[in-house]
Amino acid sequence: MNYSDTERVAAILEKMGYEKTDKPNQTDLYIFNTCSIRQKGEDRVFGQLKKIKSWKQANPRLHVGLTGCMVRKTSTKNSLKEDKDDLLRKPLPGVDFVFNIKDAHRLGELISEAEPRLEIDNGELNLSGYEDLGLDDYLKITPKYSSPLIAYVPIQVGCDQYCTYCIVPYARGREQSRPLADIMRECEKLVENGCKEITLGGQIVNSWGQSDLDLKNIERVIPEFSSLPEKFQKEPFVYLLTQVDKLHSKGLNRLRFTSPHPRYFSDALIEAHAQLKTLCPHIHLPIQSGDDQILQKMNRRYKASDYLKIAEKVRATIPNCAFGTDIIVGFCGESEQQFQNTLELYQKIGWDMCYLARYSERQGTVSQKAFPDDISRQEKASRWHRLNALLEAFALDYHQKMVGHTAEVLVEKYIEETGECEGRSRENKVVQFPGAPEQVGQILPIKITKALQWLVKGESA
Ligand code: 5AD
Ligand code: SF4
Repeated sequence: MNYSDTERVAAILEKMGYEKTDKPNQTDLYIFNTCSIRQKGEDRVFGQLKKIKSWKQANPRLHVGLTGCMVRKTSTKNSLKEDKDDLLRKPLPGVDFVFNIKDAHRLGELISEAEPRLEIDNGELNLSGYEDLGLDDYLKITPKYSSPLIAYVPIQVGCDQYCTYCIVPYARGREQSRPLADIMRECEKLVENGCKEITLGGQIVNSWGQSDLDLKNIERVIPEFSSLPEKFQKEPFVYLLTQVDKLHSKGLNRLRFTSPHPRYFSDALIEAHAQLKTLCPHIHLPIQSGDDQILQKMNRRYKASDYLKIAEKVRATIPNCAFGTDIIVGFCGESEQQFQNTLELYQKIGWDMCYLARYSERQGTVSQKAFPDDISRQEKASRWHRLNALLEAFALDYHQKMVGHTAEVLVEKYIEETGECEGRSRENKVVQFPGAPEQVGQILPIKITKALQWLVKGESA
């Protein structure tokens, strides 16, 4: 989501006449798009800000802005509000303005407010198309996509789930789905311009069209809702996938989504993988823990056995499906036995991809208020390493099973040093093979010859 937001900020800046530079210490404007999921991300911002201070001394033109999950309220040094949520009231060395990402379209105004001497001709910004922007309508800004081939399209903002460890519902606000027509317009435009792969994104992507705000006025999201067959009324996300899948005839080759929630991972969604041509055999479904008591304490609202049933159905319905997850180790009060339950489930399910995180206490969340962060750093590290060993084994095993088979690879880049092309298979596995620069953008059959830990090697089939 943050990458996609950055692409929108870049589009606005380009309209204002800014150009991208690879020399950060010579730039006039530096914007941080922050992530607050774990303390580590925020620490990195503070580390960078220290460097900015010396750059500012060397270059007085430099202005620094900050957005993303760390920011609740938009303000500049000149418009500081007596508001506890105003980040600029806290010591942020060198930051001139902060903005909630939903105010991205106001960047010109903010920069001139932060530095009134700076002459920014708002008349030239040509943001006329954006005047009707409502609360979450910053998504109407057409992003400056970082790749012409592969795009991330947000379909939802916010999250209403309130997992007890998670800052997102506070940082990103109420869950609201993007209207179907807006999503389709963005996808159609992308495909017209040669995009081959789209990832639909949201915090809890498979509950699209089902949040409280959505249900208050579902016609805002899906105007034709009342005339849809019952199966789609029950599963608006499956309906959305069906609609985007129609772009196959216009050149869309692959459709993915991230990240879904097990509560909404229905049989219909699994079956859609077998039916829709573009939907890839690649599912990333966060579990967070394999222990029922911990899951309950996390407010995940499913049991390990519910997840296992989904996993079994995935394995039975989608052949060779790549299957990944997110796990948090060392959550408040997690006993060795409870951790063992996660290890055991890992053995059973054998995820070939996993984002492993050590629990990081976030200010203002339920778990921070209600439960002590009582698992030591060493213990968290030990649990992380034990799970990581399993991940490495299953990832390698998946790659080894690919050897001898032919993968369909969307070529993303040519690596000059090695004379190889690199791309991903439909299962989202990285494939490298001897190739040529002209092959970038093509979809090629590649025979897999060798398995490595995090990628496979192959040759033109
Ligand atoms: N500490 C550690 N990991 C977290 N995540 C979310 N909040 C926290 C936290 N407080 C992880 C979850 C989520 C992923 C995006 O980040 O595993 O799925
Ligand atoms: Fe955070 Fe849970 Fe929402 Fe995911 S579903 S963003 S973990 S609150």
